[in-house]
Amino acid sequence: MRAGSYALIEVSDNGCGMSETVRAQAFDPFFTTRERGHGTGLGLSTVQGFAHQLGGTVEIDSSPGQGTTVRLSLPLSKQA
Ligand SMILES: Nc1ncnc2c1ncn2[C@@H]1O[C@H](COP(=O)(O)OP(=O)(O)OP(=O)(O)O)[C@@H](O)[C@H]1O
Ligand SMILES: [Mg+2]
Repeated sequence: MRAGSYALIEVSDNGCGMSETVRAQAFDPFFTTRERGHGTGLGLSTVQGFAHQLGGTVEIDSSPGQGTTVRLSLPLSKQA
């Protein structure tokens, strides 16, 4: 990451959480564990695409049964 000020946005849930195998693939385009026809697998891939385009980062903290936290760091702009 470049030096500067960032906004940190954390979103947490208390859902089923992810195994290490799922977490490792969660950002891959079209990766989904939902039933056929229920998920595009593009949700997290899109979030990661936006974050990187803006010069930020996104990371997932999750384990099975422990819920999930997605942490976004986005650079602050000097322009209003
Ligand atoms: N909050 C979460 N808790 C547990 N697993 C998650 C969570 N978010 C994502 N995942 C896992 O990562 C996979 C990919 O997530 P992503 O959001 O990219 O696609 P999706 O939710 O399956 O489909 P869609 O993008 O259409 O919502 C999910 O199928 C699921 O296995
Ligand atoms: Mg999703």
